[in-house]
Amino acid sequence: MTIDFAALPQDFLWGTATSAYQIEGAVAEDGRSPSIWDTFSHTPGKIADDDHGDVACDHYHRWREDIGLMRQLGANAYRLSISWPRVVPGGDGPANPKGLDFYDKLIDGLLEAGITPSVTLYHWDLPQVLQDRGGWPERETAEHFAAYASVVAERLGDRVTHWATLNEPLCSAWIGHLEGKMAPGLTDLTAAVRASYHLLLGHGLAVQAIRAAVPRAEVGIVNNLSTVHPATDRPEDIAAAHRMDGHTNRWWLDPVHGRGFPADMREVYGVELPEQPGDLRTIGAPLDWLGLNYYFPATVSDDPNGPAPHVRSVRRDGVPRTGMDWEVDASGIETLLLRLTDEYGARRLYVTENGSAYPDIVRPDGTVDDPERQAYLTGHLAACASAARKGAPLAGYFAWSLLDNFEWAYGYDKRFGLVHVDYRTQARTIKGTGRHYAEIIRRHREGVAKAA
Ligand code: IFM
Repeated sequence: MTIDFAALPQDFLWGTATSAYQIEGAVAEDGRSPSIWDTFSHTPGKIADDDHGDVACDHYHRWREDIGLMRQLGANAYRLSISWPRVVPGGDGPANPKGLDFYDKLIDGLLEAGITPSVTLYHWDLPQVLQDRGGWPERETAEHFAAYASVVAERLGDRVTHWATLNEPLCSAWIGHLEGKMAPGLTDLTAAVRASYHLLLGHGLAVQAIRAAVPRAEVGIVNNLSTVHPATDRPEDIAAAHRMDGHTNRWWLDPVHGRGFPADMREVYGVELPEQPGDLRTIGAPLDWLGLNYYFPATVSDDPNGPAPHVRSVRRDGVPRTGMDWEVDASGIETLLLRLTDEYGARRLYVTENGSAYPDIVRPDGTVDDPERQAYLTGHLAACASAARKGAPLAGYFAWSLLDNFEWAYGYDKRFGLVHVDYRTQARTIKGTGRHYAEIIRRHREGVAKAA
């Protein structure tokens, strides 16, 4: 498998990604309030081994060391998320100076290291106080999100140009409010659809807030999308795949492209949207870029009696799988990048997350060799470069993740890091994949230098 480096722009961003709750720890320090993930992870039975993010990777105290790791990888970008309950502990109202100071120092540290920060405002950690007032199913949460976005943009906008509003709103709405497997743990279709609407409204309001505070901001949204395949060629399964595509992809892409919420899916959900005049224009304001998080494809069959969208996931046999039991299909990332280009007219694209968890074997000297993860990385990067060669305006790739971290309901058992974390000692060790990524980055730069 070779990567067509020449297809990638010379100023390509080679990054790693993380999120606040998954790495920071320090949940009760310097004025941070609890988020819905503190509540959910401390609810017995919700998380594997009852793990939680109280300490996580202790990045709140070890961020300097973590920037050092990024430098060792040769990365020139870093995607981080801001913890809303650290910055505005009341959900709305006054900012917490100590919370803002943390991100201020982190941004300065990144810039000093020559690493471009890409800031995501919401990676699922809603302040619990707002959940107590109804959370995302309520409109006021979208308004509070925009106010919080202003606070962060005003403080960091003199140095940060690259902004994302939401990370994977699908997970917040569908997994958090419909499937109950993520915070806040509801299984309520009406709440889920209302949450999806207000998440996207919050996105649109936050775009306005960021642009008002940071005139040179480049603003986007990050979606986790999947290619969707019918399990058979029965018409029912083909229709099921179309519904799953609506649930996973179109529901999140169409509104932010000014196309409104897909009519077929509105019918499938049968839930009235809490729409007010002007909302669709707010949600559909043109963006500077789109972020794609890609992990695996979906194969589905019709399930008329199952919950909306009435599909059943079908496990295909004889295909490679990661330690998450997710099917490996690098062609999906190319298909999606080209779809965003051709169907949605994307002006600029980033792969904002892509990566794999496999059971790591730590040698006595602490090193980790992880050939399967390396193969996953190479295969997906080759597919990205192929999409770029075919015209996708791909401007960067952020490997998920810099560090092993708190993998939500799976706890600490699943490791996505380029860097191994020993959670007992917090020792960090760059894995084989980290070294492999560094070599890929080096080879791209070498090509750029030769071309100059
Ligand atoms: O760890 C998550 C991340 O928070 C969001 N995208 C998928 C990753 C792997 O599951």
